Amino acid sequence: MKIDNARVGIVGLGLVAYSHLKGYRSHPSAEVAAVCDLNDVRADRFAKENGIPKVYTSYDEMLADAEINVVDIATPTHMHATMTAMAATTGKHVLCEKPFCRYMGEGLLACRSGARKGVKIMVGETYVFLSSHMKARELLEAGEIGRPLQIRQRHGAWLEKEQLHASDVPADRSWRLDPAQSGGGAFPWIFDHAVHFFSTAEYLMLDIPVREVFAVTADNRGVRRQKGAAHDPYSTAEIDIPIITWKYEDPACHGVWIRAERLNGKYDYMLGFNTAVIGDRGMIEVLGEGGGRLFWDGAEQHLLLHREGKDTLTFRFDEGGDDVWKSEISYYSQGHIRQIHHFLDCLVNDREPRYTGENGVRVVQCTLAAIRSARENRPVRVEEIGEDYKAYE
Ligand SMILES: NC(=O)c1ccc[n+]([C@@H]2O[C@H](COP(=O)([O-])OP(=O)(O)OC[C@H]3O[C@@H](n4cnc5c(N)ncnc54)[C@H](O)[C@@H]3O)[C@@H](O)[C@H]2O)c1
Repeated sequence: MKIDNARVGIVGLGLVAYSHLKGYRSHPSAEVAAVCDLNDVRADRFAKENGIPKVYTSYDEMLADAEINVVDIATPTHMHATMTAMAATTGKHVLCEKPFCRYMGEGLLACRSGARKGVKIMVGETYVFLSSHMKARELLEAGEIGRPLQIRQRHGAWLEKEQLHASDVPADRSWRLDPAQSGGGAFPWIFDHAVHFFSTAEYLMLDIPVREVFAVTADNRGVRRQKGAAHDPYSTAEIDIPIITWKYEDPACHGVWIRAERLNGKYDYMLGFNTAVIGDRGMIEVLGEGGGRLFWDGAEQHLLLHREGKDTLTFRFDEGGDDVWKSEISYYSQGHIRQIHHFLDCLVNDREPRYTGENGVRVVQCTLAAIRSARENRPVRVEEIGEDYKAYE
């Protein structure tokens, strides 16, 4: 169902809503017509600061507003799939934040509601809309490193900026630690973030699906307890997943994610998320969210292309910095803006977004395989995760 102009209602006015707002306001075919938050003070403040005409504190009432044809869901995770299904049922297109669902069944239900009504559902998987990751994918598709065989993701500290673009009316962020509301059971941080890591793992392996996952656990009870970013409630987990390994459907291909940062009691000199993709003729190193300290010849770079028998090429993506992290990469700014522009372009040109509800369900399945692997201390095939498997009781 094509639309000429997106009249958007944003629900959930926490940290991430500010990045979404920038995306809508900088697109020629969109306007934010309404906002909705349970917290009326936050909602009023957000609307006033940004000149948004309508304010709701009830999602049902916002959905009943016939002027709105697009809903942006930026609420805590436990509401994502239900709110998507509700919006789709009223015939509105949806951009929903990740993780799209807490278990596959609720995500698939939302996808079916969208298909029935002919509306588009896109999941906000920002990692596949980052300039640095998109350039890496372009180089991979051009065969610059030959056949990609191995992915190494390394997660160091995300260093927070002193001044965040956030409301001075604090949101209740306790859902992030709650087993059911976060969706992650005993591993809420992993559930929130591993969807990014698995989507990147498949994106940079040229869409070869992950087949089997193994998670290494660590008992942190003897480790110094530390806090992460000031805007999040996480602290060092007693039982943590610092390493995840996986195999792909192509048996030659494999990957690893390794986390060492303040929040899990470790120190790594490199900042944020960075990925190495190793092929049979070369290697790409690329910065992702919060990334920094990737050097070549003494200069800080954002992507390195090493090729057998050729000079190394370096790339930078200077897009004005990040809104949240001290980073070389513009994640919260340009990453989010680009993904929202893509969504809007799909709506006005009647094209399928390149990251759909089904993609969102798929990475939740991989993430649940990692959590199940940690719980059962064995490799778990992704297909073992059925529609009803949950990480929480
Ligand atoms: N893609 C990314 O880079 C990225 C970054 C941050 C957060 N996220 C995701 O976005 C979602 C929101 O995260 P956040 O950090 O912005 O959350 P937050 O806790 O800062 O804000 C959530 C907001 O939703 C509101 N809310 C809760 N229930 C509501 C309801 N029923 N109706 C209306 N409003 C309601 C709260 O009052 C609060 O203002 C999470 O699922 C998170 O995983 C994604």
